[in-house]
Amino acid sequence: MKTALITGASSGIGRAMSFLFAKDGIGLVITARNESALIELQKEINTQYSVPVTVIACDLSETGAAHALHQNIQSKGITIDYLINNAGFGDTGWFVQTQWSKNDQMIQLNITALTALCQCFIPEMKERKFGRILNVASTAAFQPGPTMAVYFATKSYVLHFSEAINSELKGTGVSVTALCPGPTETNFANAAGFKDDGIFDKKQKFPSAEEVAQFGYQALMDQKSVVIHGLKNYILANSGRLFPRNWVVAITKWMMTK
Ligand SMILES: NC(=O)c1ccc[n+]([C@@H]2O[C@H](COP(=O)([O-])OP(=O)(O)OC[C@H]3O[C@@H](n4cnc5c(N)ncnc54)[C@H](OP(=O)(O)O)[C@@H]3O)[C@@H](O)[C@H]2O)c1
Repeated sequence: MKTALITGASSGIGRAMSFLFAKDGIGLVITARNESALIELQKEINTQYSVPVTVIACDLSETGAAHALHQNIQSKGITIDYLINNAGFGDTGWFVQTQWSKNDQMIQLNITALTALCQCFIPEMKERKFGRILNVASTAAFQPGPTMAVYFATKSYVLHFSEAINSELKGTGVSVTALCPGPTETNFANAAGFKDDGIFDKKQKFPSAEEVAQFGYQALMDQKSVVIHGLKNYILANSGRLFPRNWVVAITKWMMTK
């Protein structure tokens, strides 16, 4: 039986994705900080599907946490075939007014932990000539993001890093997919401090976590390199290439602050 490691499985896209693996008979290692939410998810999956679900609660923004998670999984004798680097968060505000501790945690989680987990698991996947990695980026990856400067930059990193290593891994049986969702109905906006306006305007209807998870799951299985969820997001993400960079950043600033 194959096994998937899903980070950020306690809510939103990661939680929704856990059910998709279980439905296809793939065992799970689910991780996030909120242990009770993970245990709840484990119980829910166990009532519907007969796959093993291992819960490992940890804070991936802590130094060394990704390597400790890898060791913990190895010590349990579990082999990871699917790595879903989904845990991440954002923060809104003018950069000079943001807190360093939050920016540091964001960089540690969105960039460092994701990179470390890829480096830990890829050699084993290469040896077995099978591995599928899904790194959750964002449409934020395609342009600079005034009022979310650090978050947008972390997601640019995720996109470029994923494309680069996917290219390096051609022919090895291991693939890396970057999933780029646009605004999605999860706890993300709340955690990032969005009010009910701007890009998360409550009057708009956003895709559900389930919809985005299904889209990402299919792209992972199809070994796609980069996928953007939704036609509007696809057009917006790619339109930046048609305009001078200073126009793109000015338009994004307007969209983020209107
Ligand atoms: N929703 C959107 O609009 C949107 C758009 C584009 C991209 N994304 C990306 O999608 C991914 C999933 O987010 P979501 O939308 O599903 O939001 P979410 O519901 O807030 O889920 C975030 C997940 O990350 C986990 N997490 C947060 N901090 C963590 C830490 N320090 N250590 C370990 N796990 C941590 C959370 O669990 P705990 O709190 O239990 O630790 C939770 O399971 C993120 O990478 C996000 O950047 C979201």
